[in-house]
Amino acid sequence: EPYLDCGAYLGATVGRFANRISGGRFTLKGDTYHLTRNEGRHHLHGGGRGFDKAVWRGEAIEAGNQVGVRFHYCSPDGEEGYPGELDVSVSYRLDRSGGLRIDYRATTDRATPVNLAHHSYFNLNSGGATSVLSHRIRIEADHYLVIDQDGIPTGELCTVEGTPLDFRSPRALGYRIDDLVAARGGYDHTYVLRSRGGEPTLAAQVTDAETGRRLEVLTTQPGLQLYSGNFLDGSLVGREGIAYHRWHAFCLEAQHFPDTPNHPSFPSAVLEPGEVYAHSVIYRLGVQT
Ligand code: BGC
Repeated sequence: EPYLDCGAYLGATVGRFANRISGGRFTLKGDTYHLTRNEGRHHLHGGGRGFDKAVWRGEAIEAGNQVGVRFHYCSPDGEEGYPGELDVSVSYRLDRSGGLRIDYRATTDRATPVNLAHHSYFNLNSGGATSVLSHRIRIEADHYLVIDQDGIPTGELCTVEGTPLDFRSPRALGYRIDDLVAARGGYDHTYVLRSRGGEPTLAAQVTDAETGRRLEVLTTQPGLQLYSGNFLDGSLVGREGIAYHRWHAFCLEAQHFPDTPNHPSFPSAVLEPGEVYAHSVIYRLGVQT
């Protein structure tokens, strides 16, 4: 029940379209679609009742040396304003290398934009009791998407060089976060990943020196949103009574670029009938040796 009231997307599958769609509308094949506007005049994370609020059906899976669970949800035609009935499955598998692999599959009966993302928050030190600003992070990206004051991409790709977004070499997450407070409260930006393709490749690595814990994120997606928990304000209380405060957790959300339906120059996020949407993300935990 608390998850249904929660607006922070804790551990959620975000969809039908993760991140923002400007003005809550887009045009596809000559038709204009109006989506729920749940962040000012914009559409965020699939709307007022996005996939994070859906009740999914789950079944256990066992294959080789992996165990997991597959969730299924059928999003009706017109849900939150999107065209077509979308049949979605999300499989979570644990492997022996400490990896949690998430595989997304979807099919549709009408062309629709699809962008499914995983929205877990991480704190490698304290489960959320302390800030993550001393975690060191490396992101496999040379460019990021320029955004306006609402977090909507302008369409421009900019080099990270010389900006607070430069994590091409490992740096403390908080090294220049103060420069971003006025605009977005911290990190809330999409990185253009260097490589992508059939198999998940490394997108980011985060380490915590005190505990030696390490998180690697691998994906097939073109973008990676770094969100530093800017809007956590202490009102959410999680496990062991820990209240989640600003910058006490980070998200690394592998996804298509925000507002893709309004940017023909971005990699397409349209799923056509007869096609299968397929993306994967792996969160692999380990220790620094
Ligand atoms: C977005 C933030 C948003 C947060 C909600 C992130 O994916 O980029 O802007 O506030 O999700 O928890």
